[in-house]
Amino acid sequence: MSILRLDKYLADAGIGTRSEIKKYIRQGFVCVNCTKATNPDIKINPKTDQVSFKKQLIQLAEFEYYILNKPSGYVSATKDNASPTVLSLIKSNRKDLFPVGRLDKDTEGLLLITNDGALSHRLLSPKHHVNKTYYAVVEGEVTSNDICAFEQGLIIGAEDLPAAMPAKLTIIEPYNAQANLSYVHVTIQEGKFHQVKRMFQAVGKKVVYLKRIQMGSLILPPDLSPGDYRPLTEEEHKTLLKCISHS
Ligand code: URA
Repeated sequence: MSILRLDKYLADAGIGTRSEIKKYIRQGFVCVNCTKATNPDIKINPKTDQVSFKKQLIQLAEFEYYILNKPSGYVSATKDNASPTVLSLIKSNRKDLFPVGRLDKDTEGLLLITNDGALSHRLLSPKHHVNKTYYAVVEGEVTSNDICAFEQGLIIGAEDLPAAMPAKLTIIEPYNAQANLSYVHVTIQEGKFHQVKRMFQAVGKKVVYLKRIQMGSLILPPDLSPGDYRPLTEEEHKTLLKCISHS
């Protein structure tokens, strides 16, 4: 982790805003290497310096990882002029968090939020074939022909020619003829723009609800409501690293 100013170190650790931290330093609440700090500008080496606030050692993690159940209506971006972003749901002072990949504004479900660029790259790069599984409600009756078409790979846009993208389509509930709806799981390895919706469009069907339920080894926790998030557990993090190192 790189060298950073004392006030930024404490702000990133969630102690307060930069101006609150300046006040805490004036009040003598902050020590660096057992000496009362007087200057918010001093440089901290997170690997070697010991920073304490009100006598509590403050350790700053290099990376943060949150699993979010993205609600509909939020954009998967760090900034947007028109709509709320997924980052507005995360209470963290870190300024370097970003969502790993994009879910459409109306798509719900699993979104990893982190500041770990290398992990994000591994999860998203088509070269690494990390599975992403979605639950979808589809207008029309999904048939075994559709399962075969998905398996063989569908051309979903000019940019995909000549490549096709094999995907696993599973019908998880019987077709509801009255509502004219099918309920499926789709597993893909890429993350092209509107990919799942465009695959169904290619077989003449329309996705009316989409939720990501799994990415690599990460599973959307059933008790996480839309809009809720929590830090990844150590176990989830370890398993995810193992999963991407084998992919
Ligand atoms: N495929 C889509 O069509 N939309 C998403 O949000 C994710 C995958």
